[in-house]
Amino acid sequence: MSDGELVTRTLLLASPEETHRLGVRLGGLLEPGDFVGLIGDLGAGKTHLVRGVAEGAHVPRSEVASPTFAIVYPYSGRIPLYHADLYRLTGYDDLYATGFMDLVGGEGAVLVEWLDRVPEAAPTEHLRVTLAHAGGDARSLKAEAYGVRSVALLTAWLP
Ligand SMILES: Nc1ncnc2c1ncn2[C@@H]1O[C@H](COP(=O)(O)OP(=O)(O)O)[C@@H](O)[C@H]1O
Ligand SMILES: [Mg+2]
Repeated sequence: MSDGELVTRTLLLASPEETHRLGVRLGGLLEPGDFVGLIGDLGAGKTHLVRGVAEGAHVPRSEVASPTFAIVYPYSGRIPLYHADLYRLTGYDDLYATGFMDLVGGEGAVLVEWLDRVPEAAPTEHLRVTLAHAGGDARSLKAEAYGVRSVALLTAWLP
């Protein structure tokens, strides 16, 4: 498996519960330094998926918020998780000023909603998850892995 290889998976999530379960699975697999970017319209299920991830990483339920007022929420679970929402940012300079970049590749895993607002926030190696409305409670999920570690993470998550 070469460094340049891009591995993708797509699937249909029929219900919020399915999305949650998939998040829990990912939460059990994340390691320090992992970076997961989440892309999708409002209501696509980005935060819903992250709540599952937090549960899977054993973050106490009371800690998990919807990051509306802060840009980054730190959670402490099996490993530290940093949950960020870039919706309100206008660009990389804004993000840099928050100190967010110091968290990337650090002792925790980073989950970022609206990565498409500031694509430069992602390190070269990362997992990119795109969610989209697919009628009613259905959502489509596309996951793209960039780099060796992310490919391993993706293939363990969605074999
Ligand atoms: N299959 C599904 N997966 C995820 N969320 C779903 C699904 N079906 C319905 N929903 C609902 O859609 C909403 C998603 O909201 P949220 O996760 O906050 O979206 P985002 O963070 O992408 O804006 C929630 O109210 C959730 O209950
Ligand atoms: Mg959200």
